[in-house]
Amino acid sequence: MRVLILGGDGYLGWPTAMHLSRRGHEVAVADNYFRRQACAALNCEPLIPVPDLHERARLWEAVSGHRLQVHIGDACDYDFLSRVFQGFQPEGTVHYAEQPSAPYSMMNREAAVFTLTNNLVSTANLVHAVAELAPGCQIVKLGTMGVYGTPNIDIEEGYLEVEHKGRRHRFLYPKEPGSLYHVTKAQDGDLLYFYSRIWGLRVTDLHQGPVYGVETEESGTDPRLATIFNYDHIFGTVLNRFLVQAVAGVPLTVYGKGGQTRGYLNLKDTLACVELALRNPAQPGQYRVFNQFTETFAVNDLAVRVQAAARELGLAVEVRHLPNPRREAEEHYYHPVHTGLRELGLQPHYLTPEVLKGMLELVSRHRAAIVTDRILPEVAWKK
Ligand SMILES: NC(=O)c1ccc[n+]([C@@H]2O[C@H](COP(=O)([O-])OP(=O)(O)OC[C@H]3O[C@@H](n4cnc5c(N)ncnc54)[C@H](O)[C@@H]3O)[C@@H](O)[C@H]2O)c1
Repeated sequence: MRVLILGGDGYLGWPTAMHLSRRGHEVAVADNYFRRQACAALNCEPLIPVPDLHERARLWEAVSGHRLQVHIGDACDYDFLSRVFQGFQPEGTVHYAEQPSAPYSMMNREAAVFTLTNNLVSTANLVHAVAELAPGCQIVKLGTMGVYGTPNIDIEEGYLEVEHKGRRHRFLYPKEPGSLYHVTKAQDGDLLYFYSRIWGLRVTDLHQGPVYGVETEESGTDPRLATIFNYDHIFGTVLNRFLVQAVAGVPLTVYGKGGQTRGYLNLKDTLACVELALRNPAQPGQYRVFNQFTETFAVNDLAVRVQAAARELGLAVEVRHLPNPRREAEEHYYHPVHTGLRELGLQPHYLTPEVLKGMLELVSRHRAAIVTDRILPEVAWKK
């Protein structure tokens, strides 16, 4: 299949490109380097530097023999996107090209407006490019479990069957996003749902939990092929922050009571899920949703697991609770359904002590590059 990856230089995009090309797909990657530029501007550089996208593609071709098409440009620029579509004629597009950080979206007005514009215009342009230039091309868009919030009922896989005054209807599951970033992920889903119904697009929305891990089967061959590892308060996810704090010898910082529970998954499983979605496409007119995670953890559980794995490596780790900079429930019911991808054949990788120790060892090898000032939260939700 010819697969275009929008956001192909990112944390998920780059390993996806290698993964799909190794499995025989013809892959093109497009990226405008927003993430690299934002990391540099905010003093949030990843722990381990990575080469630019042209160099990564060159390295990958040298080790694997697979050539990737590289396009540097903005998915919000329709001239750029339509040129890529006309030249490559994708049969599938994986849409990662969005601003992915909740704290970034809550920083200030400029960052809020950028997040709204970037995430919705890139999605709208994609819809038009598919409809006008590559009809039949399926769209796999990365969504987030965060769009659902933490309702006091089970979270279904995308849709909810409602009975009201004796009649029934199937709606998209109600959304209660907890940051502006998450609002845009609900809205890009609404756009895709709308166009799938109106223009018959084939869409899979992968409502994904936070992803952990750096190494994949493909990156193992050369460390320069590994994806980025951010541990800062803007782009670093909670597990990455804890791993770096454990190695740096500073307390793990839990926001609030630490009962915030979310669904997590290994990077290897993200790659498998995206490929499963592409290989089992949505039907024309179908907006299909999968809840993409393999295990749920409260923040306190993650802290305890990192502490235990670090102890086995001889690192003494403390846990400290900070006032929560976000507005979110710190103790809540959380029971999301996630059977769809398992039914398509997903074989999960779990967050075992070995996985945690492997990540702690990776961080330890780059210990000298850690800047602990980057980890403590500086963006508050309340004004
Ligand atoms: N990483 C996670 O844990 C996670 C969890 C849930 C959902 N997601 C979603 O997955 C997607 C990818 O996340 P990620 O962690 O790889 O983020 P990322 O920032 O590493 O990757 C996104 C890539 O898209 C590029 N990009 C952004 N806007 C663009 C534009 N207008 N044109 C071209 N390129 C653009 C960025 O430069 C970056 O390289 C995001 O949509 C995010 O919301 C990620």
